This record gives sequence, C-alpha cells and structure tokens, in this order.
Amino acid sequence: MEDKKVIWITGASSGIGKALSIKFANEGWTVAASARRENLLKELNQENESIHPFPLDVTNVDQCKKVFKDIIEKFKNVEISIFCTGIHDPKSEKEFNLEKIKKIMEVNYFGTINSIDAIYKYYDEKKSGQISIVSSVAGYRGLPAAGAYCASKSALTSFAESLHFEMKRKNVRVTLVSPGFIKTPMTDQNDFPMPMIKSPEFAADQIYKGLIKKSGFEIHFPKAFTYFLKFLRILPNNIYFKFVEKGMKKIN
Ligand SMILES: NC(=O)c1ccc[n+]([C@@H]2O[C@H](COP(=O)([O-])OP(=O)(O)OC[C@H]3O[C@@H](n4cnc5c(N)ncnc54)[C@H](OP(=O)(O)O)[C@@H]3O)[C@@H](O)[C@H]2O)c1
Repeated sequence: MEDKKVIWITGASSGIGKALSIKFANEGWTVAASARRENLLKELNQENESIHPFPLDVTNVDQCKKVFKDIIEKFKNVEISIFCTGIHDPKSEKEFNLEKIKKIMEVNYFGTINSIDAIYKYYDEKKSGQISIVSSVAGYRGLPAAGAYCASKSALTSFAESLHFEMKRKNVRVTLVSPGFIKTPMTDQNDFPMPMIKSPEFAADQIYKGLIKKSGFEIHFPKAFTYFLKFLRILPNNIYFKFVEKGMKKIN
C-alpha cells in the first residue's frame, strides 16, 4: 500500500504537464505520468523516482482504461487525476482544414473524455478525490485563426461545468484549469507576441496551489490576463469583434 498521495497526470512528457509532474513529486506525491513519448517519461523517472511512467495515447479508449487499471493495481488509490494533453496547430488554423479540425477535437476533447471514461467508475464509487481538466482561456470566446483549438477548449470548459454538478453529489471535486500564455513547445509555434507569457514552472505552481486547496472550481492564471479575458467574455458580440480586430491590426 502506497502511503504517499498519488496523482495521475496526462500530457506529462512536456510543457505544463511535465512541470506539474516535477512540482507534485517535489511536494512529496507519487506521480503516475502519461503521454505517448515513453523515453521522455523515463527521463523524468531517472531524475525523480516518484514519477512513474505510464505511456498512453489518449485517443485510444482501451489504452486509457488499461493504463488507469495498471495505475490502480500499482498504487491502490489515486487522489487526483488531471488531464493535460493537448495539441494546437496554428499554421493549419489559418485556413479551414477539416482533417486538422477533427484531429484537434480528437486529442483535446475526445482524448480527455476517453481519460474521464477510464476513471469515472473509480471516482463514482470512491466518493472522494478530484478530477481536473486542463482547458484554456481560448475556451472563453472564439479567437482569430484558432477555431478548432478554441472549439475544443470551450467544449472542455462546458463539459467540466456539467461534470461539476454530477460529481459534487458524489463528493468528488471537479476543477477546471484555464491558463493564459505559457512558454512550451505548443506556444513556441506561435508567430505573434504573446502578452504576459509565463513559464511552465509558474503554471505548475498555480495549478498545484489550486488543486491542493479544499474548494474552488476554476484555476486561472496569470490573473491580470485572465480577468481581462473574462471581461471580454461578457461584452456584446459587436464590441468584442471590433476590439479583437483592432488588436489584430496592431499585431500584424
Ligand atoms: N502553453 C499554453 O500557453 C497553454 C495555454 C492554455 C492551455 N494550454 C493547455 O495545456 C495543456 C498542455 O499544453 P502545453 O503547452 O504544455 O503543450 P506541450 O508542451 O505541447 O504538451 C502537450 C502534452 O500533450 C501530450 N499529448 C499530445 N497528444 C497526445 C496523445 N494523443 N496522447 C497522449 N498524450 C498526448 C504530449 O505528449 P506526447 O507527445 O509525448 O504524447 C505532451 O506531453 C494542453 O491541454 C494545452 O491546450 C496550454
């Protein structure tokens, strides 16, 4: 029986998920770390033996179930499951591309849903613990040249809200993570200035603090940026569109 608390983190091979794995391991947790690139997960394990590789492609429903079963068999109890997988393809988003849109939905939305499918019964019966979904401020409103990414994230945000109602009755906390710009391989693809961009370690600290708190739904950061976007969310469409178009002209 493990006496350290256990967290399952997907998207752990890179960026935010990797920084979060290191943060939780440094805080004394056992981390079950998932992503496709097993070599990177093994490197993490070599650096910190509390991080255990559980390679996984989240688009494979059966693999999600098998991996979670393996995690439970090994550690018996999982306190937090956080789903941090995601892809973005800014170049393909400049024009309509059906295949790329489907791919982004498949990984970002259905990949997370497949992961939730794997843990649902466990938390349903456990009646404690936490399920966390990493979405984005890109889920607040549609942004230019990011239709597929924004749609996948707004779907996740709505799903997390619905899951909150369902799981609250079962004493399981659901949290939603909405980061602003964080410097990772994902945002390294962007060819525009990213306001208030922060490091993955900053993101990991914010997420850690939000997850270990007793209550609260949304973990969003950096606050100066996210509160501004929350304000844009409540603007009428015509004002919002004009505001964003003006901003885009300045960037281009
Ligand atoms: N960076 C930002 O500014 C930002 C802002 C808001 C939200 N987010 C969200 O934060 C999350 C992490 O993003 P990041 O910036 O840290 O990006 P990243 O460095 O590119 O990391 C993405 C992670 O997802 C994993 N992944 C991708 N496809 C997968 C699949 N099919 N199966 C399993 N794992 C898969 C990758 O691992 P493998 O390639 O090894 O599978 C990697 O570990 C994403 O959900 C992203 O949308 C990021």
